[in-house]
Amino acid sequence: MKEKIEKILEEVKTFHADSKEALEQFRIQYLSKKGTITELFTEFKQVAPEMRKEMGMKLNELKNTIQDIIDEQQKQFETKSEGKTDLDLTLPVDAMNGSRHPLSIVRNEINDIFKRLGFVVAEGPEIEDDFHVFSALNFPPDHPARDMQDTFFVTKSPDVVLRTHTSSVQVRVMEQGKLPIRIIAPGRVFRNEAISARAHCIFHQIEGLYIDKNVSFADLKQTLYHFVQEYFGEGTKVRFRPSYFPFTETSAEMDISCNICGGEGCNICKHTGWVEILGCGICDPNILKACNIDPEEYTGFAFGMGIERIAMLKYQINDLRMFFENDLRFLKQFENA
Ligand code: PHE
Repeated sequence: MKEKIEKILEEVKTFHADSKEALEQFRIQYLSKKGTITELFTEFKQVAPEMRKEMGMKLNELKNTIQDIIDEQQKQFETKSEGKTDLDLTLPVDAMNGSRHPLSIVRNEINDIFKRLGFVVAEGPEIEDDFHVFSALNFPPDHPARDMQDTFFVTKSPDVVLRTHTSSVQVRVMEQGKLPIRIIAPGRVFRNEAISARAHCIFHQIEGLYIDKNVSFADLKQTLYHFVQEYFGEGTKVRFRPSYFPFTETSAEMDISCNICGGEGCNICKHTGWVEILGCGICDPNILKACNIDPEEYTGFAFGMGIERIAMLKYQINDLRMFFENDLRFLKQFENA
């Protein structure tokens, strides 16, 4: 038996596995339940008592040597398989291929400017009821915006609609009753309009709402002026034209000096030197009342702009449909934006 053990010992010492599988084969051959070592331990039972100590030690030495060989060679395969791939799976997703859609880029930039002024982002459902889209916002029952031509109805009575503006989010925030309020509501809106270079049945808005004690039209002007300087560059002029919205009184539309020709006059501004970018106004007291806010104590302003319109001006895109076609030749131009 002694010679047998020594012979095996010599054999295993020269063993070198060239694959993980070969190493596993080696382990099975020697250390498994039916392997060589088990067989030797069975034989060991017949060893004469005076030889037992020596044989026992030899046998254990063999077993340990085999185990050491396996452990040692296993390590090599582990390091090899780790080094096999060049992919770093811990890299953040941004490092992978792909880029943001121009509308997302513009939305994020606008959000950031208002966030720095203390506004927080609020969100609400795209499928809304009549109350949040129209009634609470002072739309008379026969207002044309409620008409089938403008609004997509999901069900009639009760009126469930696709929101036509994100002002519905403003109503939801006002309903919560936590004052003061300083929110922006970016999101997708839907209007039943024929698709053309200038209009689409789906587009995106960012609306803002600020309600506190002593909020005035001057605060509205200063906030929007700051936004324009940040987004379109210092020196961009603004002008306010009187307008009408059911939910604001006083209402205005805001133009900026054309960012393409600098106010000289070009095709984009139709040679007027000005382009319209948003609607705004002081919240009508009826709106505050509908949401249980006391108009004697609180006042507020609201504004709303189309993200597509801002993106078209910023990047000189002349067809709104481009944003929805997902043509890679178009999208790739914004990879580094
Ligand atoms: N909700 C208006 C629209 O969709 C925009 C707006 C918002 C106007 C807030 C004034 C005040 O056209």
